[in-house]
Amino acid sequence: MKDEALSSLYTPALVVDLDKVKRNVQNMTERYEKLGVQLRPHMKTHKTLECADIMTGGTRRCIVVSTLAEASFYADHGFDDILYAYPLPFDKVEHCAALSERLDLFQVLLDHPDALEELKKRPLKDGRQWHVWLKLDCGNGRAGVLYSDPGTLKLALAIAQADGVELTGVYAHCGNTYKCKGVEQIQAVAQETTNLTLQFMEKLKDAGVTCKSSIGSTPSCSHPVKDMAQLSEVHPGNYVFYDVQQSLIGSCSLEDVAVKVLTRVISHAPHRNQLLVDCGWTGLSLDGAGTLPTGYAVIEGHTDLKLVSMTQEHGRMEPISGPLDYSKYPLGTMLTLIPYHSCATAAMHSVYHVYSEGHLVGKWLPTRGW
Ligand SMILES: Cc1ncc(COP(=O)(O)O)c(C=O)c1O
Repeated sequence: MKDEALSSLYTPALVVDLDKVKRNVQNMTERYEKLGVQLRPHMKTHKTLECADIMTGGTRRCIVVSTLAEASFYADHGFDDILYAYPLPFDKVEHCAALSERLDLFQVLLDHPDALEELKKRPLKDGRQWHVWLKLDCGNGRAGVLYSDPGTLKLALAIAQADGVELTGVYAHCGNTYKCKGVEQIQAVAQETTNLTLQFMEKLKDAGVTCKSSIGSTPSCSHPVKDMAQLSEVHPGNYVFYDVQQSLIGSCSLEDVAVKVLTRVISHAPHRNQLLVDCGWTGLSLDGAGTLPTGYAVIEGHTDLKLVSMTQEHGRMEPISGPLDYSKYPLGTMLTLIPYHSCATAAMHSVYHVYSEGHLVGKWLPTRGW
C-alpha cells in the first residue's frame, strides 16, 4: 500500500483493499458457478452492506448471518433470503417471527427438540411457515446434533412433520478444517463432511423427506472436492478478506489477504530492546494468542520484527533476534499489520477505510451487536 494515501489516517486504522476483496469474491463465485452449487456467503467477517453487495453480485439475496443484529441490518436494507445460522436463541424467537412475517424468506437454524417446540408455540401469521435448517455436527464439535445419533433423524422428521414448520435444509459447518495444514488435509475434512451430510440426506430421502444440504468453511470452499457438487449450497464467509491463519492452513496466499491494520511507532524502550506502537488488542484482537513466529500479526515488510504483546491500546514490538536498530523506526513511523484472524480484527473496528489502486475511496460502517 502506498504511504501517501494512508498517512492522513488516525491509527490504529483498518484498511480494506477493495481490489483484493473483489478478486477473492470473484474466485469463490466462479468456483461454485462451475461446480453448479449455490454459494450462500456468510456476512460475519465484515458485516457491511458494501461487502454484502460484492459477495451477492448486487442481488441482495441468499446470505448467511450469525447474529440477529446482522439479520435486521440486512433486512432493513432490502436483503432477503437470509439464513440466521445460529442455534435458535429463545429470547430472539419473537424477533425471528417478525422477520419471517416481513421477508419473503427468513430462515432459522436449530439443533435441539426444545427449539422446535419453541417455534411451534409461536405460529407465523398469514399461513406462513417457519423455514428451519437442522444443524448437523459432522465432527466439528461445536453446535449441531451428531450425524450418527438416532435422535438426529428423529428430530429432522419432527421438523418436517410439524404444523407451520418446514424443514428447509441440513447445515453442517466444517470448522474442523481450521486444524488442517495444506490442501490434502483440508480436502480430507471436506470429503468427510460431504459424505456424512449426503448419507444423512439419503436417510431423510428414505423416510420420504427432501430438503437442501449445505456445508462449508473458507478452507474447504477454497479447495472443494468433486462430491461437493452434490450439495445444494455452500456457506463460506472469511474468504472475502482471508488472513494469516488462512494462509497457514493453505486456503490462500498471504498476498490474498485484503485487510491490514495500520499502526504508528509511539515510543522507544531501549531498556527492553522494544518499540511501542499504538495498536493494542482493541485494534487487532488477541486471536492467535501470539503464536506466530512474528507474534500476534505479520508485520508487512519487516519479517525481522515480532509483535510480542498487547494491552488495550499499546503494542510491544521487538526484533526476532539481535538489538533493535532504532534509526529505522523513528517515532511516527507507520507499520502495517496483517491480522491473524480477520473476523476478529474487523470486529474491533467501527470504520473500515477502503483503499483501491493507491487511493482511499471510501469508508464502510459495519453493523455491531447480537
Ligand atoms: C455457522 C457458520 N457458518 C459459516 C461460517 C463461515 O465459515 P468461514 O469463516 O470458514 O468462512 C461460519 C464461521 O465461523 C460459521 O460459524
